[in-house]
Amino acid sequence: MNWEIFIAPYAQVVEELKVKLKGMRQQFEYERDQSPIEFVTGRVKPKSSIIEKARRKGINPENIEEELQDIAGLRVVCQFVDDIYAVVDMLKQRHDFEIVEEKDYISQKKDSGYRSFHVIIRYPVETIHGEKMVLAEIQIRTLAMNFWATNEHSLNYKYAGQIPVEIKSRLKRAAEAAFQLDEEMSKIKNEIQEAQKIFNEKQVKKPERS
Ligand code: GTP
Ligand code: MG
Repeated sequence: MNWEIFIAPYAQVVEELKVKLKGMRQQFEYERDQSPIEFVTGRVKPKSSIIEKARRKGINPENIEEELQDIAGLRVVCQFVDDIYAVVDMLKQRHDFEIVEEKDYISQKKDSGYRSFHVIIRYPVETIHGEKMVLAEIQIRTLAMNFWATNEHSLNYKYAGQIPVEIKSRLKRAAEAAFQLDEEMSKIKNEIQEAQKIFNEKQVKKPERS
């Protein structure tokens, strides 16, 4: 198998989806005061990670395309938890790809403490040989969830997946703190929106008096 040839459609998908998701963010900025999307990143899974994960999961090399869902990976980072669900709803409305799976690790967080919403999509990409269906994973999470996951990922890398128990329990406490941060911020978000409502009503009334 020629690796460059194998990976090319995935690289194409990552680039296309970055443009599309960043486009959503841009449109929100033009049309609203704030966007549910804070930032978007994307990556193609490195060759060594693909091989390692396929081996770990006992996936046959010929089944990698169907069974490894995150070779093309996108990440959408939001400020607030309810923004995540707004983004998921918008992804469901789209006609340029099909959603094949949803994994809600927010209502059902992982044992590690990991929280995030994953959407697996089937995306048609044009190749020089015609249309090819490619799986991609979109991870949607808050800034707090992203902060936690990024640090946990680094530690997993450092300890080759064998994080010492005391660090693991600290990570669980950090996950709880990140959850509390999201909760508190959500409450402030509601406060702000209510305040804006009252402010807007006053703005409407003002011309009558003058
Ligand atoms: P792997 O976790 O990579 O074996 O993937 P999977 O096929 O079991 O799917 P899953 O939904 O569990 O995870 C997909 C991706 O989510 C991973 O590649 C990570 O990017 C992320 N993820 C899942 N669990 C964790 C976790 O505990 N910590 C961190 N930092 N990221 C996680
Ligand atoms: Mg997993």
